[in-house]
Amino acid sequence: MIDSHAHLTMKQYRKDLHAVIKRAREDGVTAMINVGFDVASSKAGVHLAGVHEDIYAAVGVHPHDARNLTADLLEDLEDLADDPKVVAIGEIGLDFYRNLSPRRSQERAFRWQIDLGRRKGLPIVVHDREAHRRTLEILKDEKVSSGVLHCFSGDVNLARQATDMGLYISFAGPITYNGKNTREILKRVPLDRVLVETDCPYLTPVPFRGKRNEPAYVRLVLAKIAGILSRPVDEIAYLTETNTRTLFNIPPGD
Ligand code: NI
Repeated sequence: MIDSHAHLTMKQYRKDLHAVIKRAREDGVTAMINVGFDVASSKAGVHLAGVHEDIYAAVGVHPHDARNLTADLLEDLEDLADDPKVVAIGEIGLDFYRNLSPRRSQERAFRWQIDLGRRKGLPIVVHDREAHRRTLEILKDEKVSSGVLHCFSGDVNLARQATDMGLYISFAGPITYNGKNTREILKRVPLDRVLVETDCPYLTPVPFRGKRNEPAYVRLVLAKIAGILSRPVDEIAYLTETNTRTLFNIPPGD
C-alpha cells in the first residue's frame, strides 16, 4: 500500500519523523508521497525524498499561499521539479472555504502550476475545497488529463467528469467518519481510478480521530474502503497501489 499524500516535513513530526517512517514500513506501506504546500516545504520534501528510497515528492504552492507565488518562486519550483524523485506538481488548486488568498491569485497560481506540470510532463495533485465548479472549469479549460483530486469532497457528477478526463480520485480519513456521501461516490468511481492517502498530520481516520495522523494509518482508510465495497483489503491495497504507481510513474516495488 502507498500513502499518496502526506506532509512529513511539518513541525508535527520534528521530534520523531524516523519513528513515523519506520512504523509505516512495518505496517506495509511501500511508498509515501510527500506533498509540498509552499516553496520551502517543497524543497524540504525533495530533500527528504533524496534521503529515503521509498519517499517521493510533489512540489507546489497551495491555494492558501497563492498570493505569495511570484514569477521568481515559480522558477524555484521549476528547478525543484527537475529532481528525479519529484513525481507531481502539488498541492495546487482552489480553496473558497477559507479564502486565505484572494480568488484571483488562487486561480492564477493554479493555472501557472498546471502549466508547469504540463511542461515537465508531471501529473498534478489538486486541492479543491468548496470550489468544485470553478476547479472543474479550470481543469477543463486547461485540458488537464493527468492528476488526482485529493481528499475528494465533491459529488458524483464531479467524480464522473473528472474520471472521464482521465483523473484519479483520492480518499482519505473522512471516509471513516460519517461520510455517507463519500461512500456513495466511492461505489460509483471505477476502481482503476481510486487512490488512498492520509493527508497527515491532518484528517486522522477513526479510531484515532483527533490525534496526529501518520502514513501507517492509510491501512485504516483502505480497510474502510474494502468494507464499503465488500472486497478483500488485500485486493483494494493492491489495486490502489497499482493506480498510484501508474499515475506518478513510480516503478514497481518488491
Ligand atoms: Ni494536503
